[in-house]
This record gives sequence, C-alpha cells and structure tokens, in this order.
Amino acid sequence: MADTVSDSPTPPAPAPFIFVICQNGAESATKLEIMNNHPNLNLAFSRPGFITFKVSSETPLPQRFTLKSALARTYGWSLGKCTSQDASSMVAEISTLAEFKKSNHLHVWQRDPFTPGKNGFEPGISALANEVGNLFKATADEASTKLVVNKESKPDDLIFDVVMVEPNEWWYGYHFASTVAGRWPGGTPAIDTTVETYSRAYLKLSEALLWSGITIQPGDICAEIGSAPGGACQLLLEKGANVIGIDPAEMETGILEHKNFVHIRKRGSDVKRKEFRNTKWLLSDLNADPKFSIETVADIVNHPLVDVKGIILTLKFSEWKNATSISDLMKAVKALGFQVVKARQLAFNRREICLVAVKDKFVLRLGKKHVKPKKPTQSDKQSDKQSDKQSDKQSDKQSDKQST
Ligand SMILES: C[S@@+](CC[C@H](N)C(=O)[O-])C[C@H]1O[C@@H](n2cnc3c(N)ncnc32)[C@H](O)[C@@H]1O
Repeated sequence: MADTVSDSPTPPAPAPFIFVICQNGAESATKLEIMNNHPNLNLAFSRPGFITFKVSSETPLPQRFTLKSALARTYGWSLGKCTSQDASSMVAEISTLAEFKKSNHLHVWQRDPFTPGKNGFEPGISALANEVGNLFKATADEASTKLVVNKESKPDDLIFDVVMVEPNEWWYGYHFASTVAGRWPGGTPAIDTTVETYSRAYLKLSEALLWSGITIQPGDICAEIGSAPGGACQLLLEKGANVIGIDPAEMETGILEHKNFVHIRKRGSDVKRKEFRNTKWLLSDLNADPKFSIETVADIVNHPLVDVKGIILTLKFSEWKNATSISDLMKAVKALGFQVVKARQLAFNRREICLVAVKDKFVLRLGKKHVKPKKPTQSDKQSDKQSDKQSDKQSDKQSDKQST
C-alpha cells in the first residue's frame, strides 16, 4: 500500500451514494439543509446520526466534494454495508475491497447513541470502535500493509471510513480529508473528555478553536457574554488569556478567584462599551434566540472604541426547524465587517451551532498575532515567492472549504 494518496495510481471512482454523519436527533434539520443546498442529492437511508443520499447521475459530485452544510459533522462516499454477528468476518470482507487497499488511513467509529452530554455520553471513539480498529490493524499487519487507524490525517489524505451504525451493521466508504473536520475520525477531534470542567462549554470551546484555527495567545484579552458557570473561561484562563466574564449569574469560585479573571455581573447590553476597548476575542454563549445573541454582539463590535479580531458565538436553537436560519445568521455576521464567517455544529454542541468570524483571515492562517512583515530584500523575495505560492494555495483551499 502506498504511503500517501498521491502515490496511489488510481484513486477510487466516485460512488452513487454519499454518507453524512450528524448529531443524534439532528437528522431532519441536516437532511433539509443538505437537500436545499444540493438539489442533486436525494435521501436514501436514515438512522439517528447517520444519513445516506443518492447522487443524481445527471449532476454528479466531484470526487473531492465538499458539502455546504453546517450540520454535517463529516461525510464521504458510501460504498455499502455489511452485517454479521462476527466482527472478524466483517473486517475480513472489508479488508479485501479495492478502495480499502488504496487508503492508508482508516477511521472507524460508532454513530452517536444520544445527544452529546445526555446520559454521560460524549462523542469520540468508543471502546467497541477501538476494538474493531485493532482488528483491522491486526489484519493489515498480517498482510504487511501500512494502516493508520483512528488518527488525525494530513490534509487531503484518502481515508477509508467504517461507520458502526449498529454493532453488527457497518456501513463503509471513503473520503478525502479536504476540510479540517474531515481529518478527524468521525468528524470529532480527540479531546480529553475526562478533564474536570466547570461546564461542557470547555469541550465546545476546545473543539471550536481546533476547528476554526483561532489560537488564543497568553495575554490575549477575551470577553465572554454568558460566562456562568465558567467552562469556557476555564479553558481561556488555562491558555493564559485575561478574561472578562459577563453574566448576571454566579461564576464558579475557581474562576472568580483566578488572578486573570474579572466578573462583570450584568447583562451584556448593560455593560459600558469601553469595557471592551482592548478585547481581542469576543465570545457569546447566551441561552437566548440566535438573533438576540448576534444583536448583542453587533452592538459591541460596531462601537468605535472596540476593535475585536474575532468572535466565537454559540447559537442555540429552541427547535431544530430554526436551523434553516443558519445562512441568514452568517450573513448578518458578515455584514458586521468580518472577512471570514464559518458555522458548524460541533461534535460537542447540543441543539446549537458554533459561529466563528474574524476580521482578517491571516489570523487563522498564522495561528498567532498578525505580524506585519519586515521589508524583504531582493533575495528574500526570490526564495519566498515559491514557498508562499504553495502555502497560500493550501490554506486558501482550506479556509474556502471550511466556510460552512
Ligand atoms: C449556556 S450558559 C453559559 C455557559 C458558559 N459559557 C460556561 O462556559 O459555562 C448561558 C448563560 O447566559 C447567561 N445570560 C443569559 N442572558 C444573558 C445576557 N443578556 N447577558 C449576559 N448573560 C446572559 C445566563 O445567565 C447563563 O449563565
């Protein structure tokens, strides 16, 4: 088996079906969003957290397709399913497939059994999926085949997917890792969910940062509207940020006592705008209508004293049918003067999405403060030209594809 996909002489041919992974319970909203944005896709099969669509033969998708969907956690070409009580026989069957042999990455995971946070469930690779991954690995090792199992891939790697829709019913397919989340097994980043946190917002913000490319630097001033009890502030403080938490409700003592934390015990709209003067990252996590959250943030961002680099919003839907407003919410944020606006239902989100916007896309690209480049010499110019072209292509591709 080739080490990289580009070494592979013939990539797999596009299949007539695609699979989409979403949150358990978000299927109707996901189907609606995808079929609205992609009229060439028709619903084929649906289980909680797992959907397949048939692709119209008249308007096929390109092999490295990206879906315009904030609710799809991950997706790929669907090749079929196998059912058996015997995991080894399913592993043997799948391991012989030509598409499997062309991939050197395998992602294998179970569909979500519950909404994240319910019954103690958190998304990620379950013990059963790990066991099955080990079976695949052992089979590959016997055949002296290099197979990386359930690891984050490199951009554009070819990944074979096994979705355990039931323990004895596995659907399989493949995708190219053309988005950040597409590189994570099951579209879920490997976040340690055993950490003691003040709230699940810690996990959500961890994922939001990984997905968006925003890096919080030590000393960054972050303000969060809707900060109690303090999971998100906990993460920001761990990253060395100076944090302003705005919430009429009580913060956890561990947060309140942190030397880099200030609590403004008010509603967001009642806070004087000058309090946000040096804020670099503005976060909002209100249990309120998304429009209200955006209006609250807009009032702050529009103020002449305020110059935030970016915003990270958790927008909650009282009902799933309200998710049809995602593109309008993104437009409303774009109109505030942000260059890049992205929305995604994070794996750790519940009935909500994460909307991230930055004034300058280079903040995402560099992952650090935008440093104005020094004037280059002639020889610098020459040697930088080539590598810049390369990395520009790479990261533009990435940020364009991640715009939903
Ligand atoms: C989901 S919780 C926030 C969780 C928090 N981000 C964390 O990390 O633990 C929503 C919070 O929004 C607060 N809230 C609701 N309306 C608000 C407003 N207008 N201004 C500030 N906070 C508000 C509530 O008091 C509540 O604590």
